[in-house]
Amino acid sequence: MRISIIVANWKMNKSVSEAVRFVQELHSSLTENDEIEVVIAPPFTSLNSLSEKFKDSPIKLAAQNVFCMPDGPFTGEISPRMLKDVGCDYVIIGHSERRDLFNESDEMIHAKIVAAIKNDLIPILCVGERLQELRSGQTEAVLARQLDSALQGLRSTDVERLVIAYEPVWAIGTGETASPEDAQVGALWIRKRIQALFSAKISNGVWILYGGSVNPENAKELLAQRDIDGALVGGSSLDPKAFLKIIQTAVQAKRNK
Ligand code: PGA
Repeated sequence: MRISIIVANWKMNKSVSEAVRFVQELHSSLTENDEIEVVIAPPFTSLNSLSEKFKDSPIKLAAQNVFCMPDGPFTGEISPRMLKDVGCDYVIIGHSERRDLFNESDEMIHAKIVAAIKNDLIPILCVGERLQELRSGQTEAVLARQLDSALQGLRSTDVERLVIAYEPVWAIGTGETASPEDAQVGALWIRKRIQALFSAKISNGVWILYGGSVNPENAKELLAQRDIDGALVGGSSLDPKAFLKIIQTAVQAKRNK
């Protein structure tokens, strides 16, 4: 049985002291349990300070991005080895903001996935359709392209530990969420694609999260869906109380499954 994973994607928010204060508040109310993994993806500048804080804590650290090369003349970039070195276990790859605002191609995303896995980081691969793609009935074609390209040539053992976030782009930061039924359809479609690309065993083990305007109010129904193993949370992860509520909802949803 898959555990649940709740990821906070802070994007370009919070200074180091704000990040540390958030984590102190979260720690004081978080009860340890092994059914759920809590992951925080702060900006690069807070990774080191949070890593220190997480030493004796079940909370895991993620980066929001990574470059595909191990080192060298790549001004402004951070390598997977550096992320591992600073204490990251996870890295978000292929977020729609990276794809759209920074022109990240499917090829680049694939290269980042390979580099992350090579350095023992667990990729949180984001996939999802834009509004016009949804309207023109291209959702499945977009998901197929993004998944096939990102995962091509990977071994089953690499994919076993993969986290995939289904994030319809039109739902990100807009307050509009996919209905729980549509989110389940998307997650199941992704699971079946993984089965076709690898095997039923692998697809049963892969974590599929939903992302896009998840909040304490809508989390219950979304997380109750059979193929949704957690959430990638942007806006609502910035407030420790709201984020804690989503974590508690996930624990409950997991017990009810
Ligand atoms: P949101 O962001 O929860 O603010 O919609 C989700 C994400 O971008 O991962």
